[in-house]
Amino acid sequence: MPKNMMLIRVLFASVIVMSIAGPVKPAEAKPPLKFAIMRQEHRNEYVQFETVIEALDITSGMTILDIGSGPGYASFLFAEELRGSGKVFATDIREDFVNYISDEAKRRGLTNLFSVAVKAEGLDNFYGKHQYDLVFLSNVYHCFDNRIEYFSKLRGFLKQKARLVIVLYNQVPVFSVDDFSNADGLVDNLSRETDDNPFYKNLSAGTKKLLGDHAKGDEIERALVDDFNRMLVDPRFYKGFYSDSYFRKNLFTVPEREFANWLLMTLEEDGVLEKPADQLSAKALRTVMKLNRLFFMKKLGGYLAGGGMGAYIPAGDANRHTSKYVMLRELDAAGYEYSSEINLSPYFDAVIMVPKTP
Ligand SMILES: C[S@@+](CC[C@H](N)C(=O)[O-])C[C@H]1O[C@@H](n2cnc3c(N)ncnc32)[C@H](O)[C@@H]1O
Repeated sequence: MPKNMMLIRVLFASVIVMSIAGPVKPAEAKPPLKFAIMRQEHRNEYVQFETVIEALDITSGMTILDIGSGPGYASFLFAEELRGSGKVFATDIREDFVNYISDEAKRRGLTNLFSVAVKAEGLDNFYGKHQYDLVFLSNVYHCFDNRIEYFSKLRGFLKQKARLVIVLYNQVPVFSVDDFSNADGLVDNLSRETDDNPFYKNLSAGTKKLLGDHAKGDEIERALVDDFNRMLVDPRFYKGFYSDSYFRKNLFTVPEREFANWLLMTLEEDGVLEKPADQLSAKALRTVMKLNRLFFMKKLGGYLAGGGMGAYIPAGDANRHTSKYVMLRELDAAGYEYSSEINLSPYFDAVIMVPKTP
């Protein structure tokens, strides 16, 4: 058969196959390995894996589990810290990460590091094959479904005095004009208010004037953002109206009230509510912001877009990251108790949980 005739036949056959089978679907997009490695190195500037691992007092012979290890930044450090003793298991649902870790472990001569691909749903059967001294989860907690069940089961595979170390994102975003989903509605609402309303009362004189003039657009929006960000970090903003029974009883749902109480307790214990914002530690400031943010979301939430702010609403995964409070409640239900925490940067904390004693 002449060559070009053959080509025509092949083309024709391909068209028939495609029309029967339908167009070939592109593979699901996921960040390539190279990018994931770079991203983990970047994340380390904030998570500071070295700092966490140093603080964890790793002793030789331990069995360590790094769940959702990604390309293994922390797993390599754990394996090095054990100096050839013990075992480190790095698990992930991505085969390419798991393969990379095992190749890299060989290259670095880390004979105590093992990487395992696990299923995405529920606790993989692999976990039950060992008993662990330390389980490490960095930026993974929010990835699981049915977390109470997952961590209850995992608890059965922990040695006595084992620790569960959970690194999680703890940033509280400040407001920007992009947060307004209905800026005009917000302006209308606030311009009808008086000093009885704490949100109105705390606005600057300039903003109040703009509201009085029924201003619309950029100028009033920027003025509100400035005022809101000032209120967000103000330890005293929340104090006055928390004691108001209306806010206590009617504004919040029960879990939100628990969350507010929990934040408030922390702040009161540390005397934070009596201090001006510029005298607060970064950690205390974040707690203040979470507390104040709850009020913003409840009072003005209808005019604000979700973007990043839902992260501290106890309803859970409104956004990508789960709040520490949600995690603590879930792990309590799964049989763990809070032990301590390491404040890593303005963005991340490592919370250390231990199994409750029966
Ligand atoms: C945001 S990355 C964090 C990676 C690494 N721990 C870090 O802090 O850099 C989340 C990782 O968890 C993995 N993952 C998601 N669901 C998982 C599951 N059910 N079991 C194990 N790993 C999971 C993802 O593939 C991803 O590598």
